[in-house]
Amino acid sequence: MALEMKHEVKYKKMGKYLVSDTLFLDLIFNNSCNCNCPFCIANTKTFARENYELWKINLQKTLEIFDVRDIIILGGEATVDPLFFDKLDYLKKVIKDKKIDNVILTTNGILLKNKNFLNKVLDSVITTINLSYMNYNHDKNNNIMQGKTLTKEQIKEIYKQVKDKNKTMRINVNVFKDNCDSVDELTKFVDYFNGCVDTIKFSPLMPTDMFDTKDEVTKYTNQVCLTKEEIKELYDEFVNKHELINSNDSVFGLIPYKELKVNNQSVILKYLQVEDTYDLDKVIPTLKLYSNGNLSNEWDYKKNILNSIKEDMITYKNKKVEKKI
Ligand SMILES: C[S@@+](CC[C@H](N)C(=O)[O-])C[C@H]1O[C@@H](n2cnc3c(N)ncnc32)[C@H](O)[C@@H]1O
Ligand code: SF4
Repeated sequence: MALEMKHEVKYKKMGKYLVSDTLFLDLIFNNSCNCNCPFCIANTKTFARENYELWKINLQKTLEIFDVRDIIILGGEATVDPLFFDKLDYLKKVIKDKKIDNVILTTNGILLKNKNFLNKVLDSVITTINLSYMNYNHDKNNNIMQGKTLTKEQIKEIYKQVKDKNKTMRINVNVFKDNCDSVDELTKFVDYFNGCVDTIKFSPLMPTDMFDTKDEVTKYTNQVCLTKEEIKELYDEFVNKHELINSNDSVFGLIPYKELKVNNQSVILKYLQVEDTYDLDKVIPTLKLYSNGNLSNEWDYKKNILNSIKEDMITYKNKKVEKKI
């Protein structure tokens, strides 16, 4: 039976911004990677210099000022950051008295092949591992991601350890031309990894010029990304064949998604943004803290909204005119 859920996000006025009260905070640990995906957004806009001291100060400030619900660790590939475990330890300290639901590691998983490394990750503040994996054919996946990615057996083994620690694991797949771009391919992917993780999530690849870039990555994504309509058509056909569990028209008023059961495997379909209901310069569902310590609402490490918003916030709090819209 299909269940329609209305997801109501409240926004707080903070200076010129309207900020979600269930905010996602992306921690962009680094910009290096042991893979080289041709579509990677992180190749274009995250080449921030490291400033660990400022990063620590601004992480603490960010958590004090905003209502962060989930923290997502990414990069580049965060696991290759020499400060990876130091940063996790610091994070554990600063979220101690905060109501954070999930600390999610988004990773290509390559370093998790190492048992000691995996154990350290599972003993850390991380509650969920989101593994990026593009194609069920291992050789094809290696070709796309340009790295020695995990095999199905390795993923299964990691999942066993993850479950033993009462943590969760998901595979994230990007849908684009010649990669999971038909109902048959989506089904094959789910069948291949059925039971290897808690959830499999399909998201459309996005043209990186949406983030104001002009380079090789942008050229590639312009060639291979499916349109909103193509994604919708593909997903709708897939949904029709399976059991719909949950349907959400607009997370943050922006991104629709559907949740399915496919042969008992939980699957999430993330659509492309359908409408520009909000002025994204003002409405903030997600913030990004870069390794240089800048806090931005965009894929732009040079932008830092922290100081201005903090000033405004203090004024608003003092005047008690915080408004919910
Ligand atoms: C930038 S990567 C960083 C974390 C880690 N290296 C990984 O691949 O999981 C985070 C996620 O963004 C996705 N991604 C990269 N470029 C994208 C694009 N152009 N459109 C949509 N998703 C993209 C990747 O597939 C990955 O799941
Ligand atoms: S593994 Fe992640 S960071 Fe590395 S190139 Fe691929 S998407 Fe980008």
